[in-house]
Amino acid sequence: MKAAITGLTHYLPDYVLTNDELSQMVDTNDEWITTRVGIKERHILKDPHAGSSALAIPAVKELLEKTGTRPEEVDCFICASSAPDYRWPSTAAIICDACDIRHAMAYDIQAACSGFLFNLNQARAFIEAGLYKKIIICQAEKCSSFVDYTDRSTCPLFGDGGAAALVEPTDDDSLGVQDAVLYTNGAGNEHLILKAGGSVNVPSHQTVDDKWSYIYQDGRYVFKNAVTMMTQTAGEIMQKNNLTLEDIDWVCTHQANKRIIDAVRQYVGVSEEKVICNIEKVGNTSSASIPIALHTAAQEGKLHKGDTILLAAFGSGFTYGSMILKWADCVI
Ligand code: UT7
Repeated sequence: MKAAITGLTHYLPDYVLTNDELSQMVDTNDEWITTRVGIKERHILKDPHAGSSALAIPAVKELLEKTGTRPEEVDCFICASSAPDYRWPSTAAIICDACDIRHAMAYDIQAACSGFLFNLNQARAFIEAGLYKKIIICQAEKCSSFVDYTDRSTCPLFGDGGAAALVEPTDDDSLGVQDAVLYTNGAGNEHLILKAGGSVNVPSHQTVDDKWSYIYQDGRYVFKNAVTMMTQTAGEIMQKNNLTLEDIDWVCTHQANKRIIDAVRQYVGVSEEKVICNIEKVGNTSSASIPIALHTAAQEGKLHKGDTILLAAFGSGFTYGSMILKWADCVI
């Protein structure tokens, strides 16, 4: 038995923040952002009182409706978020309440930008163990809540978005999640961190003055590790599963920087047409980036049943890894 994605949705807030508008906020320009990062625009949830859950609730409601799933049928619900609504209750609890899901083991995971792969692998484990049958994994990311819009080195990078997937068992072992290699190497902790808001640096005048509620990133260090760790695990999973270039139909990585995506593609050796990439229009939506890119590709008619997709992710931690996913019949 394998775990397959049988439904997939995503949601982006209406407001589009362009490079030109950003150029009026900080000392940057469209040319720098486009050539160094590959982003032209990103969607932003403007409502200051709406949290990440507001980005996942529409996606989950649409998923339930499109797949014909009744809320009471959902037996497990896992939410990945780098920007949870609160420290507690979980964002999963808030989303489930809004969607009338009341019979699921619902909880959050925190794996930063690798959240989708960690989430899907966890759902896969539950399905293969026979524990749950209808699992919703969702990704809820109001990244704009941790971005300092006076810091030109980070504010062009991130966008807001949410995604949801229904994961169910399939008897066809040639479909669904085939394998995953996922790791966390805490040696990267200090290089990509949001210092305040947890139990070490509780909110105070000092954390506000020092801007510790905003993302800190050592860009170059993170860049190098993102490329190394995603290519390393992509190679590892292909070797482990005796896969050659010809076996891979699509490569879809975390959407943090077009140059990182290109580097991973070049290492794997596939042509540009095989790469699923939407960073230009969406930016980095943390854990939501891979499912939003996958769903967009599916809506464009690119993905077909049986396609072999190589997924790779990287995020704070450093969390990282790769997965081989065989596309199944999926309601989009
Ligand atoms: O999702 C989590 C994982 N995150 C990532 O994977 C992100 C990884 N890192 C990156 O994508 C890149 O390192 C960045 C996009 C963050 C930065 O790109 P870079 O090519 O590494 O630039 P840099 O930080 O080395 O800066 C190069 C120059 C600097 O100027 P000087 O010192 O050479 O005069 C910066 O001050 O670019 C300058 N710069 C900018 N210029 C215009 C930095 N940000 C900007 C900007 N506009 N927005």
